Amino acid sequence: ITVYGSEDSVAKSIRNQTNQLGLMAVNQNFTDAGLELLPFENKTKSICVLTNKSMNIPCFKAGDKRVTENLGLSALHTVFLREHNHLVTELRKLNPHWDGEKLYQESRKIVAAINQIITYRDYLPLLLGEETRKWIPLYSGYNDSVNPTVSNVFSLAFRFGHTLVQPFVSRLDDSFQPLGSFSHVPLHLTFCATWRIIMEGGIDPLIRGMVVDHAKLMKQNQLLVEELQNHLFEQTEIMGLDLAALNMQRGRDHGLPGYNAWRRFCGLSQPQNVDELSKVLGNSELAKKFMKLYGTPDNIDLWIGAIAEPFVPQGRVGPLLACIIGTQFRNLRDGDRFWWEKPGVFTPQQLYALRKILLSTVICDNTRIKKIPRDVFKINSYPENFVDCHEIDKLDLSPWKDEPESSTKGTQLFEVCQK
Ligand code: HEM
Repeated sequence: ITVYGSEDSVAKSIRNQTNQLGLMAVNQNFTDAGLELLPFENKTKSICVLTNKSMNIPCFKAGDKRVTENLGLSALHTVFLREHNHLVTELRKLNPHWDGEKLYQESRKIVAAINQIITYRDYLPLLLGEETRKWIPLYSGYNDSVNPTVSNVFSLAFRFGHTLVQPFVSRLDDSFQPLGSFSHVPLHLTFCATWRIIMEGGIDPLIRGMVVDHAKLMKQNQLLVEELQNHLFEQTEIMGLDLAALNMQRGRDHGLPGYNAWRRFCGLSQPQNVDELSKVLGNSELAKKFMKLYGTPDNIDLWIGAIAEPFVPQGRVGPLLACIIGTQFRNLRDGDRFWWEKPGVFTPQQLYALRKILLSTVICDNTRIKKIPRDVFKINSYPENFVDCHEIDKLDLSPWKDEPESSTKGTQLFEVCQK
């Protein structure tokens, strides 16, 4: 969805339609020191302009319309757009006879696989800790009775991510030192602020910042930073919005049941009074506050109840979130006809090449960043945990070279078997 969109009309509108080369459209007005940027949306009134009227820079356009919500998101969208175009170019060299549609689809298939690998192998285990295998057992093939669509409750539960957001955006130069006055910008001055990518050094400083900074730790006494609780979209709305309030109101809008109903769904205990709630939360002060506000644990809004739970061992979410998030990601995998590990989707040689990919590979290949930690999801300090990009294996695309003789080989083997 991020790169390509989930509707045909969007997918088409973000492809490069000036030629038949299988490329995604890129920005025609600006580059990032020669590297591609996302194209602009072509609305008459782009809200991104409001974040700096004299610059007059509109929002970016991508497969997902939230692309300009925050700068880190825009940077990652950009990296994967470049990865697509990079793959198209390399695959064309290997297979000059492929047409634009074939190049687009093959590159899209690889980009999707890269996203799946990184998410399931490198990210989810850090989130779900010791409960990873409970909710997402090893892959055992496509199951056509699994519904892979995103559930209503997941779209609320996964907003737990709001508690991980830091109040400042940091940008670092190529020695990983603060980039002058751009280095430490309050979050509320970065929402929808495309101009900060175009005019303040592109995406590399942002990615360096994300690699070095760690996520905020979700804490029972500090769930959401002030920047999101009081200043969301302050520059583009009449006043700052409250993301926590939006989350809880959205759950009610959607008619979602409360905290205990979801605990039951997940096979967890359903606290009935302040003592039982204190045990579940490991915090009697907090339990008292909830009881005062909601009267009964049944009524606690799912979002706030779920993020208030203590983490599962080695994980960064509580048991209720582990269940809702784990179940969703399992269904997304098992109900996916094109899941990267499904037999027949990739050849054994392609799988071997794909398994070596890291998010740091994608960053090194598509930015001017020269040093990177191998595992960007872990806490890293510079320079100890960093290696040179040359030391990180590139994706070997040779298994994607069409071998015209392979089809005849197959026939020959078949004939031998017949004899
Ligand atoms: C600076 C960072 C972020 C900002 C400003 C932000 C802002 C928002 C806003 C304004 C909404 C819509 C609220 C509504 O009207 O109901 C939203 C929805 C959501 N956010 Fe965030 N968010 C951020 C980071 C994250 C992160 C890190 C995650 C997950 C890891 C996340 C997951 C979600 C999800 C799942 C939804 C619901 C989407 C849907 O229903 O389709 N967000 N966010």
